[in-house]
Amino acid sequence: MVGKYSLRGVYKRAVVTGGAGFIGSHLVESLLADGLEVVSIDNYSTGKRSNLEHLSAERRLRIVDCDITDKAAVSPHLAGADVVFHEACSKMTMCLIDPARDLEVNAQGTFNMLEAAREHGVNKFVHASTGSVYGVAQYYPTDEAHPVNPTSYYGVSKLAGEKYVRAFQHLYGMDAVILRYFHVYGPRQEMGDLGGVTCIFGRRAVKNEPLIIFGDGSQVRSFTYVGDVVNINKLVARTSGISGQAFNCASGSRVTIKELADAVLAHYKKQHIGIEYRDWKIGDIKVFDVSNARIKELGMEFTMPFKDGLAMTLDWLAKDIGKYA
Ligand SMILES: NC(=O)c1ccc[n+]([C@@H]2O[C@H](COP(=O)([O-])OP(=O)(O)OC[C@H]3O[C@@H](n4cnc5c(N)ncnc54)[C@H](O)[C@@H]3O)[C@@H](O)[C@H]2O)c1
Repeated sequence: MVGKYSLRGVYKRAVVTGGAGFIGSHLVESLLADGLEVVSIDNYSTGKRSNLEHLSAERRLRIVDCDITDKAAVSPHLAGADVVFHEACSKMTMCLIDPARDLEVNAQGTFNMLEAAREHGVNKFVHASTGSVYGVAQYYPTDEAHPVNPTSYYGVSKLAGEKYVRAFQHLYGMDAVILRYFHVYGPRQEMGDLGGVTCIFGRRAVKNEPLIIFGDGSQVRSFTYVGDVVNINKLVARTSGISGQAFNCASGSRVTIKELADAVLAHYKKQHIGIEYRDWKIGDIKVFDVSNARIKELGMEFTMPFKDGLAMTLDWLAKDIGKYA
C-alpha cells in the first residue's frame, strides 16, 4: 500500500539541496524508499558524508559535491528533476560568525536554485525556511499571518530566500511552497556546540559533563521530530493548489529547556551530573507557541510523541557519538 505521504508515482526524480545535512539526509532516505531517483547536492560545510553512507550502494542516489552559490556549477544537476527540496543553508549559529556568507548562501543560493529550477522546468519547489522570520512574537499562537520582523541575520537572510520564492511564484507561476521549521530534532542532528540543544545536552550527558542552560530554563520550545518534517515536505510536494503559501512546521509540543535537560539526564540515568546555569543569551526568544493549524488542515498528522522521539535520538547519540562528535 502506498503511504499517505508517499511520492511514489507522483514524481520520478527529486533534488535535495543540503542532502548530507541533518534534515536533508532523512529526506533523501525517505524519497529513495518511495522509489524516486534522488540527487543530493551539498558542499559539506556542515553536512557529513557519513549521513548518506548507509545509502551509498543505492543506485538511484547521485551524490553531488557542489556549492549552491556557484550557479553555473549547480544548475546542470537539476536537469530532469521534477521536484526540488531546498534544505541547504547557512545556519543560525554560522550567521554570527560570518553574516556576509550567511546572506550569500541563504539569499543568493536560494535565488540560484530558483533560477536553475525555472530553467529546467522543475514542477515543484519546496523551500525550507524557519520560524526565525517572525522575530519576537506579537501574539500567540503565532500563525502564518503574523508579521515577519526577523531580529537575527539568519532570520533576515532566510526571509530574503522566502521573498525570492514568492517572486518566482508571482513572476513565472512557479509551483513553490515555503515551510517554516521550528526546533527540529532527531538522529543525525549536529551534536557539537553549533548544533541543536537536544543533541548538545545529549552529548554532554554521555560525556559526563554538566548540562548548561542559558537563562533559567523556562524557555518554551515546540520540538518537532525530523520524521514529521520529512512527511510535511512530501505532503506539500504532492498537494496542488497551495503555491505561494507558507506553512508552520511545529509539532505543537510545549517543552521547556529545563524539562528537556531533566529528561535527557533521566534517560541516561545520570541525574548526578546536574545542570549549570549561565547568563541569558542575547536575543534568546523566550516562548515559542506556534499554530500548526494550516499544515494540519492539509492532512498532516504529527505522529511522534516528544518522549519517544527524544529516546530514539538519545539512543542514536550514545551509539554514534564516537563517529559524529
Ligand atoms: N534544524 C532545525 O531545527 C531547523 C529550524 C529551522 C529551519 N531549519 C532549516 O532547515 C534546513 C536544513 O537544516 P538542518 O538543520 O538540516 O541543517 P544542516 O546544517 O544539517 O543542513 C544544511 C546543509 O546544507 C549544506 N550547505 C550549506 N551551505 C551550502 C552551500 N553553499 N552549498 C551546498 N550545500 C550547503 C550543509 O553542508 C548541510 O549539509 C535549513 O534550510 C534550515 O534553515 C532547520
